[in-house]
Amino acid sequence: MKHHEQATLVHVEQLDATTFRHVYAAPAIARDAQPGQFLHVRVTQATAPLLRRPISILWSDFHEHVEILFKVVRQGTALLAEKRVGERVDLVGPLGTPFPYDFSRDAVCVAGGYGIAPLCFLARANVSEHNRRILLYGARTASAIVLRPEWRQAFDEVAIATEDGSLGKKGLVTDLLRDLLVARRSLAVYACGPTPMLAAVARCVANFAEPGTPCYVSLENRMGCGVGACLGCVVPTRHGMATTCKQGPVFPAQEILFEQILAETSR
Ligand SMILES: Cc1cc2nc3c(=O)[nH]c(=O)nc-3n(C[C@H](O)[C@H](O)[C@H](O)COP(=O)(O)OP(=O)(O)OC[C@H]3O[C@@H](n4cnc5c(N)ncnc54)[C@H](O)[C@@H]3O)c2cc1C
Ligand code: FES
Repeated sequence: MKHHEQATLVHVEQLDATTFRHVYAAPAIARDAQPGQFLHVRVTQATAPLLRRPISILWSDFHEHVEILFKVVRQGTALLAEKRVGERVDLVGPLGTPFPYDFSRDAVCVAGGYGIAPLCFLARANVSEHNRRILLYGARTASAIVLRPEWRQAFDEVAIATEDGSLGKKGLVTDLLRDLLVARRSLAVYACGPTPMLAAVARCVANFAEPGTPCYVSLENRMGCGVGACLGCVVPTRHGMATTCKQGPVFPAQEILFEQILAETSR
């Protein structure tokens, strides 16, 4: 259920020059938050920027506090980074669809960049003796790998790939995924990161996983209203256009027409 709260910022942590973690007291949102869902954050009380910014939920204690991790990109996230402990921030959430989770299969979480946030939440919220939680985390370089204490604690196994080879295996995170899909059975794949990475994950699962392997991707799309009204975030699927904010951001990978999305973004 969606809530609108004037949340109090209770903790701020700067992880590197452009990466911040915020903890908010937002009890109604915290109680209903599920991994994969996001907050729509009003970054200023002034008129510009008017649009809220979508940020994934990194953690909820399901009682009072929700956390986010964000990178300063331009104006909106820069204003968010200026907030101080004690300030009120206007939040709407939790929004969007959560990751469905299958306890009967080992969970393979494929993270690219800030996609680590909802996947850490997914692993931390689904502790079980019945399956293993495996993180495959890819980045351009070692310094872009964030949240080390969180993922060390949340996952049973971790493998890292960096494009420059500065940490883990040199190459793409989908190289790690292909090796794992070939070697193991009874897996479920959950992915969050840039769209080209998600498209590569979907291809990899289609080509190398045993038939019937579930694969869910969380799409990052430009958003306006965040609640399914403006159609500013639609993506092509096998069943027609779908809103990323309301029908997503989490979709079964095989439903998304990635080739069409990539062709449109390269125009
Ligand atoms: C479901 C979802 C979850 C996300 N989770 C995170 C997260 O956990 N951490 C994080 O750092 N970032 C996350 N993002 C991306 C984040 O929303 C953008 O980086 C942010 O909105 C940029 O705002 P800006 O004003 O700084 O940049 P600008 O580029 O000036 O933003 C201009 C407009 O474009 C939109 N926009 C720009 N880039 C993106 C983008 N990549 N995705 C969606 N909208 C964008 C903004 O919302 C705004 O409406 C997420 C995006 C989505 C859709
Ligand atoms: S952002 Fe308006 S419909 Fe999705």
